[in-house]
Parts: sequence; structure tokens; C-alpha cells
Amino acid sequence: MSLADKVILVTGGASGIGRATVNRLAGDGAHIIVADTQVELSGEVVAEVQKAGGSAEVLELDVAEEGAAAAAVTAIVAEHGRLDGAFNNAGIVGPTTLLADIDMAEWARVLAVNLTGVFSCVQAEIAQMIQQESGGSIVNASSICGLIALPQAAAYNSAKHGVIGLTKSAALEYAPQNIRVNAVCPGFIDTPMFDQAAGATVETRNFVTGAIPMGRIAGPGEVADVVAWLLSEQSSYVTGVATPIDGGWTVQ
Ligand SMILES: NC(=O)c1ccc[n+]([C@@H]2O[C@H](COP(=O)([O-])OP(=O)(O)OC[C@H]3O[C@@H](n4cnc5c(N)ncnc54)[C@H](O)[C@@H]3O)[C@@H](O)[C@H]2O)c1
Repeated sequence: MSLADKVILVTGGASGIGRATVNRLAGDGAHIIVADTQVELSGEVVAEVQKAGGSAEVLELDVAEEGAAAAAVTAIVAEHGRLDGAFNNAGIVGPTTLLADIDMAEWARVLAVNLTGVFSCVQAEIAQMIQQESGGSIVNASSICGLIALPQAAAYNSAKHGVIGLTKSAALEYAPQNIRVNAVCPGFIDTPMFDQAAGATVETRNFVTGAIPMGRIAGPGEVADVVAWLLSEQSSYVTGVATPIDGGWTVQ
């Protein structure tokens, strides 16, 4: 799949799914902006990319900070002249308690990163793509929790459902400008976030694995492959979809 000379922003690119996607997209020829709060780790990812002959750079970004996404896009355009695509992937788990026990500050933080953070990025990216008059492709990180609910994750479930609504709204409004906006809905993917949540112990990991129709947890590269396709011209007529990448979890 060729992404030669495309300039692509990946938020949350320092770890897990974002990291795998940065490597995949750079391998397909794109220049990647690795935007994350973890600057040192982002530097390691850039070094990984460069070692493999690809091109990437670090951009410190907290997607939850007001105005930060717009400033990031401005900085990218000042340096590279354009933005062709984005994977708005930065996210956090949030409280793993019953709904009644969620602290308001924890609720607000999950919404700020996982939903408002994605909104701010999408808004800034679309504004630039309209100005370029070149179309573009944006992929947002939702989850199976955007399609169904998992217990003790009300804030996360709510934010990820919101990402799908946001994705559909953006896809509908900017289809005439050939700006495609899609979401990916990963199931259980082996990343530091998974270790922190469902995969924290051998028992929970085995329990989750047993409930997945395909009988295994996925590697982050299996999400990266779908994101790369959605960012490429090979998905040129696909917009507004929320694609499960879940080994069959949501068909049960
Ligand atoms: N791992 C899974 O099983 C799974 C399943 C479904 C959806 N997802 C979603 O995929 C995305 C990536 O998850 P992951 O598993 O790779 O997690 P991860 O924790 O490995 O990586 C998340 C990255 O986002 C960054 N980040 C967090 N808050 C940020 C902020 N405010 N601004 C900028 N960067 C920030 C972190 O520093 C980290 O590098 C998330 O949106 C997550 O909700 C993950």
C-alpha cells in the first residue's frame, strides 16, 4: 500500500496501537508526526522508524489541552506545507468502577482525552484539509466499547460511543470536499493499555481470551494494517464507517 510522501499525524504514537501504526505508515512511505505527551518514548519510536529507513518526527501534544491540537496542525503545516492524513488515537482507560462510584473529575478527564481530544484534532485537521483543497483521510480510535458496553467502564464506553457519532458527523459534512473520516473499533489488543485494564492478571487475560470467538488477543499491528488501508487511496469510497477489529467479539 503506498502512502509515499504523505504527511500524517498520529496522536498517541508513542505506545501500543499508535506505535505500531507509526511504523506501518512510515514503512508505506509516509512522513509521520508522532504526537504524544510522552516525548522520550516518542523519540524512541522515531529512532525505530529511522532505523528501518523511514521518516518521522516527534511533536509534544496533550490532546486534552485547549487549543493544542490546532497549534499542532499549524506547526506541521509551517514545517511541511500540508497535512494529508491523521490517526486520532490518543486515549486513556479511566476508572474501572461501577457507574455510581465514578468520580466527576475522572469522568471529565476520560471525556476530555477520549472524546473532546478527538474532536479538537478532527476540527483542526479538517480546517487544514479544506484550505488545501486536496481532500484527506482521518481515522479516529473508537473501540468495541463504542459499539457495545463492557462493565465498569461507563466513562470509557460513553466517550468511545461519542467518537463514532463524531466520526459520522464529520464524514457526512465533509464528504463533498473528499475528506473521508472513519473510525476503528479494536477489541482486545496486546498493548500497555490492555495490561492496565482487562489483561492485568493471568486470570483476566485467560478469561477474556476464552470469550473471543477467534480465541486470541490481537497484536497492535493488526489494527495498524486496517488504519493504513483507511488512510490509503485503496479505501477511496469508504467514509463514516466504524470498523470492528475484534476477532468476532461484537458478532456474538
Ligand atoms: N488496547 C486495546 O485493547 C484497545 C482496544 C480498543 C480501543 N483502544 C484504543 O486505542 C487507542 C490506543 O490504545 P493503546 O492500547 O495503544 O494504549 P497505550 O496506552 O499503549 O497508548 C496510548 C498512547 O496515548 C498517549 N496519550 C494518552 N493521553 C494522551 C493525551 N492527552 N495526549 C496525547 N497523547 C496521549 C499515551 O501517552 C500513549 O502513548 C486508545 O484510544 C484506546 O482507547 C485500545
